[in-house]
Amino acid sequence: MVDTGFARLLQGVPMPAMLVQREDRVLACNALALALLGDGIVDRNPAVAVRTPAVLSAISAAARSGGVHEARMTIRRDGQEQLFQVTVSAQGEGLVLCIFRDISEVEKAGAMRRDFVANVSHELRTPLTALIGFIETLRHAARDDPAARDRFLAIMEHEAGRMNRLVRDLLQLSRVEAEERVRPKDAVEVRGLLEGVISSLKGVAEREGSTVVLAGAGAVVPGDQDQLTQVFTNLIENALKYGAAGQVVRVTLSPEDTVRGPAVRVEVADQGEGIDPVHIPRLTERFYRVDSHRSREMGGTGLGLAIVKHIVSRHRGWLRVDSTPGEGSRFSVVLPLG
Ligand SMILES: Nc1ncnc2c1ncn2[C@@H]1O[C@H](COP(=O)(O)OP(=O)(O)OP(=O)(O)O)[C@@H](O)[C@H]1O
Ligand SMILES: [Mg+2]
Repeated sequence: MVDTGFARLLQGVPMPAMLVQREDRVLACNALALALLGDGIVDRNPAVAVRTPAVLSAISAAARSGGVHEARMTIRRDGQEQLFQVTVSAQGEGLVLCIFRDISEVEKAGAMRRDFVANVSHELRTPLTALIGFIETLRHAARDDPAARDRFLAIMEHEAGRMNRLVRDLLQLSRVEAEERVRPKDAVEVRGLLEGVISSLKGVAEREGSTVVLAGAGAVVPGDQDQLTQVFTNLIENALKYGAAGQVVRVTLSPEDTVRGPAVRVEVADQGEGIDPVHIPRLTERFYRVDSHRSREMGGTGLGLAIVKHIVSRHRGWLRVDSTPGEGSRFSVVLPLG
């Protein structure tokens, strides 16, 4: 009777909770704890439910000398690792309460933030080191050498430009992320927008000896004109940069029926060397590059597709990447019409 009372009480706890009597018997659990630790654990020894020694010693310590004890526990479920912070507290009369808080996401977010800061610092440090080196040279060795001075200033301009682009892209990314929940509402005509993007990339196309061909009928989507311009600039610029030189980049508009209603699909297809499937899921990560040396050489920051992903998701659309190595890549953006 008492046990069911406890079970009912634990049912109100919004995370896995388990009550242990003394240190050797599980007295009650809520449904979340049963799902996490196993169905048949009530009345058994807590060691049946929990295999982490740190948690078991916390239970013993609380049962014997009272107080609140913390321990961490890792569980592998469906091939995924989950990390729990377990708070073990003595409740008097030999009762010990264990609360399991899933901190996997918090840990992951922390790790991502650390990675991000490390990446940004690294990306900024490279051009900055070059700039400092050249300033030093200009003040001393190249002081009276006009030809060297011009050459160094050109490199410095290039490096400063890279830092400038990096900061611009980082700001853009954080702005898009901040407003990602607010869906843009302006009426944007997609074909006209693509024509504008293609003509602004004429210089890049000419340099690569490539042509961009646009096909398909127009469509109007609720959107943000500037951000969509950015999306297709990034995708078409990538197709020109990473597609084979002297080839055709095809931009194709087509209507698409999705489960959420009618949409328009914009496909950007190149005839480059393509992308190995192992890289595809990671392309939209910040700073992820297949060939980082080549991307940096071309002045890329590795943030282009991350920005694309956030803008497209703000438009309630999605990005899909298909590629056959050796034959080219196809980046498709689907944007809902309503
Ligand atoms: N069409 C493509 N064909 C082959 N690889 C591609 C293509 N588009 C992108 N990639 C790969 O994906 C990586 C990430 O692309 P992304 O646009 O995010 O960065 P970037 O082009 O290196 O830099 P930025 O866009 O900031 O100039 C690229 O470095 C490249 O390796
Ligand atoms: Mg790019």
